[in-house]
Amino acid sequence: MSAAAALSGAERQREFAYEAADHRAVAEIVYGEVGIVLPESKAQLVYGRLAPRVRACGLKSVGDYVALVGRDAAEKVRMIDALTTNHTSFFRENHHFDDFVERMWSNLSARLTSGGRVRLWSAACSSGEEPYTWLMAMFGTDRAGAQRMLKRDIRMLATDVSPSVIATARTGRYAAPTLRTIPDDLRRTWVTGNGDVQAIDPLLRDAISFRALNLLGDWPMRGKFDAIFCRNVMIYFDEPTKARLQARLADQLEVGGMLYIGHSERLLGRVEQRFKCVGRTAYLKVSA
Ligand SMILES: C[S@@+](CC[C@H](N)C(=O)[O-])C[C@H]1O[C@@H](n2cnc3c(N)ncnc32)[C@H](O)[C@@H]1O
Repeated sequence: MSAAAALSGAERQREFAYEAADHRAVAEIVYGEVGIVLPESKAQLVYGRLAPRVRACGLKSVGDYVALVGRDAAEKVRMIDALTTNHTSFFRENHHFDDFVERMWSNLSARLTSGGRVRLWSAACSSGEEPYTWLMAMFGTDRAGAQRMLKRDIRMLATDVSPSVIATARTGRYAAPTLRTIPDDLRRTWVTGNGDVQAIDPLLRDAISFRALNLLGDWPMRGKFDAIFCRNVMIYFDEPTKARLQARLADQLEVGGMLYIGHSERLLGRVEQRFKCVGRTAYLKVSA
């Protein structure tokens, strides 16, 4: 079935009018703000995510909602929030964490111990599972060691454009089924409580600076990072946006630092020359 046919078929069931022109207007705003491409084939998905906002705003159509978003910056943020796909999990694409620990962590921890600094960035971290996993992989079951190391000059930044997932990440609280992909020994070490909602140890939670940040906007960070995870976000971008973002990520990494991207992503064009691929979607920065 063509996208246009899917649109008109679904329209009969819809609570709010959602014309092809509305979809194009939404797609244009979202692309302009955060780089996410929303082809017409995503019209049903977009409608499903926006309908609750249209209802909450007391409007009669998505067209009215688009007009509201044009004059209300806070609603625009809520629209983008509603349209981001935040799927993630603890220990997702786990070999990246193993790679970081094996390749980088003994050198970086030696650097910390001798008074140096370490900077890590989980870019597009969604609700926080990725940065928490990263710290658990680094420290294993050694909580006392983590306590000692986290007093040193180590910072982990974790950012996402969606304020609601950043708010979740900051709480460090997750539904019990979400925590099941954490290996048992690590879960025993780092997760407290045994109810429906359980908490990540505050030692890890407080070690991460969670911030709302649009990867397409200005980045306030001045210093470079020793490793960046930027996984499963570029899939939503077109090639020019990916190329620009990858060049900026490369600029933001130390030579000798690692960039990890999602399994279905790849480095494009000229930026590839600045990296050596050292594992599946794992890249060592080799030249400035
Ligand atoms: C599928 S999740 C990936 C989460 C995690 N990195 C992982 O691999 O499990 C993609 C995340 O990218 C975020 N995102 C999308 N566009 C963004 C942008 N322009 N700037 C920052 N984050 C963005 C979304 O809000 C979403 O949380």
